[in-house]
Amino acid sequence: MSTNQFPKQCPNCLKRYGDATRPWCKKCDFSKVFGEWTSGDEAIDELIKMTQNRQGNYDDNFLEWIPFDRIRDKQKVGQGGYGTVYSAEWIDGKRYWDQSTRARQPCKVALKCLNSGTESHQIFIEEVRSHYEVHNTSFMSNSFPMYGLSQDPDTKEYLIVMPFVENGNLRSFLNKNFHVADWEFKLQLLYSIAFRLSHIHSRNMVHRDLHGGNILVMIDKDGNGRGEITDFGLCRSTADNVEEGDVFGVLPYIAPEVLKGGTHTLASDIYAFGVIMCEMTTGQSAFCDRAHDVSLLIDILNGTQPKILDDTPKEYYQLAKRCLDADPDNRPGAWELRNFFSNRYVSKSVPPEYRVADERKKDLLPQGSHQIYHTDAIYTSRNLSFTKSVNQLKIANRNQDSSQINLQVPDDF
Ligand SMILES: Nc1ncnc2c1ncn2[C@@H]1O[C@H](COP(=O)(O)OP(=O)(O)O)[C@@H](O)[C@H]1O
Ligand SMILES: [Mg+2]
Repeated sequence: MSTNQFPKQCPNCLKRYGDATRPWCKKCDFSKVFGEWTSGDEAIDELIKMTQNRQGNYDDNFLEWIPFDRIRDKQKVGQGGYGTVYSAEWIDGKRYWDQSTRARQPCKVALKCLNSGTESHQIFIEEVRSHYEVHNTSFMSNSFPMYGLSQDPDTKEYLIVMPFVENGNLRSFLNKNFHVADWEFKLQLLYSIAFRLSHIHSRNMVHRDLHGGNILVMIDKDGNGRGEITDFGLCRSTADNVEEGDVFGVLPYIAPEVLKGGTHTLASDIYAFGVIMCEMTTGQSAFCDRAHDVSLLIDILNGTQPKILDDTPKEYYQLAKRCLDADPDNRPGAWELRNFFSNRYVSKSVPPEYRVADERKKDLLPQGSHQIYHTDAIYTSRNLSFTKSVNQLKIANRNQDSSQINLQVPDDF
């Protein structure tokens, strides 16, 4: 394609340049092309500009400052442990390159703000930075990028603006649709989750809060499923010296070594993936029938694992069990998981034992929603401060010769 077909003129310095997809010349600051703006917060301005300076193309994955008057119909749709999520319409819509018009269309977006708290602004910035870093690769840039940041002038809350996912999170999706989700679909979801996890891990980052509420389900027009990992609030580089004190997260997904006071590692993310694999067999959230309290904590430390349906194909059962191994060194890596699922799904060769399991499931499971949640089963991330108390207790009857801990629940819990 001759560059003469696309004579370009920088709207700032008016010099001509020849790249067909670039709407500004590299010498000029983005703001001179996109207009002057400020978020009113120096750290946020710097973060947005950092993403802009790293990119060269108009439709690349960089953040925009989105004035709140370009957003309308804000409505609450979700609440996690740290933030509130809204749906809204972004009047300008996402950037995409069109040589003649650079046309942008209004689109539905999700807005996420963090609940107020002393450190919430710093956590917000960390979450945006991690989300950006994870998606700043050619593989991930189109999967689930943020569009930009905004601020609600009434509440003063800063907001992440990102694609809205109609099917919501994996936990609620399985709750409603498990009886119709066959293994082909579930293997597609697991493949895409493992694929994304392998990219997070290849960037030496640990998600640290992987669970069904932090995976969003997308279904394409052919009915194929995809799981997007979201909520990078606790995600950190393995190089960061995260001070491990309190344990944060959703109890059933936290690896025993972390519950014992250890650090989150790539292997502790794999443990959480193993819990999700179990849930894919039963359609039930792990330990949904019991309180997520110190008693469950002690049982997990003593080796209790989430239910996995007996009828599960053997190779799948064995892989899930390896992910849940008490010894993190025995767990598979994310690339192994990705290869396992890719061999069964991408090649469209779902092995026959999964088809057989689909047939049997029809007899085993009643139609419709079948989960009964214990009122103290808590699936939003939180500070599990009771883990500290248990670890601080002189674990009276610790068996020195084994990694097992034999604890009774003390009366004062
Ligand atoms: N982009 C999105 N589209 C649709 N729903 C979303 C989106 N992001 C989050 N949600 C919903 O909001 C819930 C909480 O979001 P999350 O980012 O996990 O917040 P928290 O940090 O508080 O856990 C999710 O479990 C999901 O149901
Ligand atoms: Mg969450």
